[in-house]
Parts: sequence; structure tokens; C-alpha cells
Amino acid sequence: MMKTKWDHFYKKTYQQRLDLIAKEVGLSADQLNKLGNDSTVSRNLIENFLTDYPLPEGVVTNLKVNGQEHLVPMVTEEPSVIAAASNGSKLLASGTGIKAEVLSHLIGGQIVIKDFPLAKLTQFVDQHRPELFAVANGSHPHILQYGGGAQKVGVRKLDEHFTSVDLAVDPGEAMGANTINTMLEAVAAWLQQKLAVTVTMAILTNFEAERIVQVNGTVPFSALETQSMSGETVAKRIADASRIAEIDHYRAATHNKGIMNGIDAAVIAFGNDWRAVESAAHSYAAKDGHYRGLSQWSVSATGLAGHLTIPMPIGYVGGATKVLPLAKINQQIAQVTNVREEMKVIAAVGLAQNLAALKALVTDGIQKGHMNLQLNSLAMANGATREELPVVVDRLKKMKQPDSTDVKQILRQLRR
Ligand code: HMG
Repeated sequence: MMKTKWDHFYKKTYQQRLDLIAKEVGLSADQLNKLGNDSTVSRNLIENFLTDYPLPEGVVTNLKVNGQEHLVPMVTEEPSVIAAASNGSKLLASGTGIKAEVLSHLIGGQIVIKDFPLAKLTQFVDQHRPELFAVANGSHPHILQYGGGAQKVGVRKLDEHFTSVDLAVDPGEAMGANTINTMLEAVAAWLQQKLAVTVTMAILTNFEAERIVQVNGTVPFSALETQSMSGETVAKRIADASRIAEIDHYRAATHNKGIMNGIDAAVIAFGNDWRAVESAAHSYAAKDGHYRGLSQWSVSATGLAGHLTIPMPIGYVGGATKVLPLAKINQQIAQVTNVREEMKVIAAVGLAQNLAALKALVTDGIQKGHMNLQLNSLAMANGATREELPVVVDRLKKMKQPDSTDVKQILRQLRR
């Protein structure tokens, strides 16, 4: 491989790394001071560690799932997300509360095989299922202690060259990515030995169609009423918004982004891999070949009914949940004691988040509530100090569409 000046960067001490970066990009002593923040946990968690990057954590109030209240920690940089999730949770709590159920809890993975007769591979897998499961479980025996293990195997033709052997595993309380990858590699080696197959790759799939949570909730018309619209009208407009996300992928992408605003923030707070959750959600949204909204809203005789079915590939133990100091505290704040509870609570946040966004969209428009809460960050981004912030935001609220120029002008006046 070619030589670069960054060769073995990861072998340098923390201070050497900081000094090199500072020299390379010309960081001032003040910037270096802000950046420098050694942490044994983080240094050992990721590679080429420079600093911990702080993001704000807040808590969602009023979320009621299966009769129990949960305060859900959320980590996000976006103003209005937590307010909206709390708003949606309160609306749903005014109805029956959210009912949540884990429909399935298996992690899947695939061994892709090239140019091997499909019928022969299918027959072999069918006839050697117990042995195949034993190979998988034997490569990761801990999984059996936690009540998990290999559960299903199937063979799927991809095209005239490639076939996928799909394995599904109960990961117990863990997310299970490492577990299934270890198992897949063991089964791949075993298939190579038994059948002399050519394995192209063995890896988990983030299309998590068997790790599904379903949440349902209702909101009475009375709770949806605004100054200018009846609750029934708001409900009908939300049902229309839901329909649009079914038929138009432009809208479905935004609809689902709104759901993921809440889900990602909670997943991060619980120390989990939000890229896996994102990937699972979006691939599930396109499972019938057409990208659609993940939630559906409809109107009944008494109110609005919401429904969300979503994959939730998270773990209650293992991975970063063990090492990130806040992950365990956040589980305690949320009062979740196992992976299934955590899955349900996170999915419930997604439904509440979606409801608040849709209600804002079909009534006042998103900008009113969102921009009100954005004003703090607009003021801070333009240099308002903590002391100046309340006055600046107060003045911005009285303007029609305030921007950076307005903040700067207010600051000039204040500082005169
Ligand atoms: P409001 O209508 O002014 O309601 O809400 P409120 O003042 O009557 O408050 C209702 C409840 O909301 C409160 O109850 C709180 O629970 C919560 P209370 O405690 O007063 O009894 N709440 C707050 N919680 C914390 N801090 C606050 C706060 N304010 C209210 N400051 C609100 C205002 C912003 C909540 C509402 O307009 C809203 O929900 N808007 C949606 C905002 C949103 O979705 N933001 C996400 C970013 S936009 C986006 O990325 C997604 C999107 O594109 C997705 C899509 O298109 O589908 C929109």
C-alpha cells in the first residue's frame, strides 16, 4: 500500500495526534483547548479518537405505553423535536394511550453463494438443519445462555449466479450484530467444507423484517381541536396526510424522516446503532417495492387512530450500551428493563413524533411551532450571549420571518 503522512496515526499518543492535527489545519491554542478532551472510554471505543462530541439530551414527557408512563431520553441537535414528541405523546395519552407489541424478534443474515445448483443447496440445508443450527450456536455459545440461538434457515435465489442462505437468530437481549456475523462465518466455512461452495460473503442484513414492533394509539377529536378547526377536521386532514405518504414517495421520505426524528434521538440516548435502525426502517418502508410512509392514520367515529409497524434492531445489553456511561442511566430514566420494553418505547416515540408533525403540518404549518423554538439557536448562532438570549428571542418572536441580519441588528442595539 502507498505511504502517506498519516500512516500509523492510530498508534500515536493522544497528545501527538492532537498536535499533528493542530499543525496540519492551523488550530489556535483556544481551539485546541476546546478540542482536547481525552477519555479512556471513548479512546477505546473508536479509532483515531480526538474528542467527545457533545449533543444535547432532553426528555420526552407524557409518553404512555401499555398503561405505563415513560420519560424517554432523547439526544438531538434539532430544536422542536423533543417538544413535538412530548406534544404527540400528550395527545395520544388523552386517548387510550399507546398499545405496543413486539411481533417478532429475530436478527437475520445471509451467506451469498456463487454458481452452485439451487436445488442441491436447498436440499442440503433442509436435510441438515439441526446440524447447521449446531454449527451456528457452537460458534457463539453465549447466545444460548441468554435464551437466544439460531431459529430459522432458508435458501433464496438471487439471480442465475447467486443464491442466499438466510439465517435468522434470536439475539436474546443484545442487538446481535456480532453474534450473527460470527455465526454466519462459521456456517459459511462449514458449507464450504461440506459442499465445496464458493462463498462471496457472509454478513447480517439490515433489512430486519423479523424484528418488528407494532404500536397503535387513538386521539379523541376534542384533543385535536384548534382555534380555527374542529377536532374532526384536523383528524380528517391528518388521515389525508397519511394517505399522501402512502401514494407519493416524495412525501413518504419526509413523513418517515419525521418519525425517525424521535426514533433516532431515543436510539442514540440508549447507546444503540442508529444507522442500523435507520437502514432497517427505510428498507422496510420499501418492502413491497414502493417506498411508503411507515405509519398510517385513519378516522373512526370518535377520533383519530394511528398505527406504526417498524423494525427495531436494538440491544438492551452489549455493544456501546455497556460502555457509554449515560446509556444505562437513560434506560433507568425510561424505566425499561429489557430489550422488548425498550423496542416498544422507542417505536411509541416514533408514533408520537409523527402525530405532532402531521398535526402542525395540517393546521398552522410546521414553521410556526418549529421556528419559535429555532429562535434560540438562531440567536446563539449569531453570537447572542446567555444574558442577551431572552431579550433577543423576545424581539425575534415579534418579527415576521426573522433571520441572521435581524439578530445582528438587535445585538448591535443591545450592545450600544
Ligand atoms: P403548541 O401547539 O404551541 O402546543 O406546540 P402547546 O403550547 O399547547 O403545548 C402542547 C404540549 O407540547 C406541551 O404540553 C408540551 O408537552 C409540549 P404542556 O406541557 O404545556 O402541558 N411542548 C413543549 N415541550 C417542551 N418544550 C417546549 C414545548 N412546547 C410545547 N418548548 C409545538 C408547539 C412545537 C410542540 C408544536 O407546534 C409541534 O408539535 N410542532 C411540530 C414540530 C416538529 O415536528 N418538529 C420537528 C422538526 S420538523 C421535521 O423535521 C419533520 C417534518 O418535516 C416531518 C413531516 O413532514 O412529517 C415536519
